[in-house]
Amino acid sequence: MALLPGYATANDTKPSKNSLGRFFESRRRCLYKGGPSVSPVGFGSYRVGLSKGLGFPECANALELALKKGLNLIDTSTNYGGGQSEMLIGKTLKKLINENLIQRENIIIVSKVGYIQGSNIELAKSKELQGISFSEISKFGEETWHCIHPDFIFDQIERSRSRLGLETIDVYLLHNPEYMLKKFELEKMEQSEAQNLFYSRIRESFLALEKLVEEGKICAYGISSNNLGAPEEEYSSVSIKRMHEIALSISADHNFKVVQMPMNWLEVSPAFYDVEEIGESTLSYAQKNNIGVMLNRPFNAMFNDGLIRLTRPQVSQEDYDKLDEGMRKGLENWTQLSSDLERLAKEQLADVPGYDDATLSQFVVSTLAWVPGVTSVLCGIRKEKYVNDVEQALARPSLPRAREHLRGIYENLEFRS
Ligand SMILES: NC(=O)c1ccc[n+]([C@@H]2O[C@H](COP(=O)([O-])OP(=O)(O)OC[C@H]3O[C@@H](n4cnc5c(N)ncnc54)[C@H](OP(=O)(O)O)[C@@H]3O)[C@@H](O)[C@H]2O)c1
Repeated sequence: MALLPGYATANDTKPSKNSLGRFFESRRRCLYKGGPSVSPVGFGSYRVGLSKGLGFPECANALELALKKGLNLIDTSTNYGGGQSEMLIGKTLKKLINENLIQRENIIIVSKVGYIQGSNIELAKSKELQGISFSEISKFGEETWHCIHPDFIFDQIERSRSRLGLETIDVYLLHNPEYMLKKFELEKMEQSEAQNLFYSRIRESFLALEKLVEEGKICAYGISSNNLGAPEEEYSSVSIKRMHEIALSISADHNFKVVQMPMNWLEVSPAFYDVEEIGESTLSYAQKNNIGVMLNRPFNAMFNDGLIRLTRPQVSQEDYDKLDEGMRKGLENWTQLSSDLERLAKEQLADVPGYDDATLSQFVVSTLAWVPGVTSVLCGIRKEKYVNDVEQALARPSLPRAREHLRGIYENLEFRS
């Protein structure tokens, strides 16, 4: 099947003259110098796909609605929904482009490479049997392997382009490369040796990604890592500065342009933790060096090995009636927590007009999206009501003191102490 040509450009993604009231569009920011402009909220497509189990058709409707409203950043990966996320995005783009509702040049597609799961495991295992295995695989049991070797990147890019139906993917990220470090740690490799080997392999991956840019298969690349900005003494910490230096060592005109990492009200280190080696936070380094930053998991905060959902529960009476006693208690606790968090946010933003009636999720989106250095917040808005909700967050006044508000919220979270 013919792939759709084109890619997002700086010119085509500038907000149009009639974008007034279209907040996904009017508030766009430049992703990186010379690159396209993106909406402050991107469509996160983890747990999205073409089958009922992955929310079809609701998530396709939500994506359509978001694109029609001017959202122009979509984040996916080879492994989301076992490839179905990329397929759903490809189908939706094609439909809206054919209907003349959007243009290819206006939409930034981000995908990632690294995980070997599902059908990729079958592929990797069959290649092993044939003696032509992908190189440098990190194996974590039978079902989850990981690889960022050039051979694997060259294989996966073709599968992603085909599933998306696109000639060019705008941004292609190495997906959680720290898995390699985790494997070295399990093998008891000395930390400095592990870090050196890790970055030498990252260099090989970057060379492969530069080749993909030359071939017109991607426009830019970067990394998505849960460990960006972690203290250096942590075995599998990942440094934005070292990544950037590797790219610079390849070429002054390198295409390492974007990083992605989790950040939310409980996980704030990208904004506030000064990495010793660079003497500043990861966000501040990115901002100074024109590296675009996408935040992920804004509503899913990891805390004490558990997960805290930073949204207000929305359960219909019908669904509530079906819950057992334990589930009802859990729901009560979550409702109480969300009320407490909303009150805390209202206190912290007391002198800011336009937030009196904000919902918890809207406070979360705004306090993250306006932090200096953040280009876009990727949200798992796989339902139409979520798209409308985050749009309302963007309709509220901008927050020039977002960093201060975020710090205030973080420092006053009672259950943290
Ligand atoms: N390592 C990586 O590269 C990495 C890791 C994590 C995430 N990501 C990317 O970042 C995106 C966002 O992360 P995420 O989807 O894991 O988590 P998230 O955006 O924090 O959302 C978590 C969940 O909250 C619910 N939700 C979303 N918007 C809401 C709203 N406005 N109001 C109430 N509830 C809402 C949805 O759950 P229900 O639909 O179940 O109700 C959603 O799945 C992902 O989709 C993915 O694209 C990348």
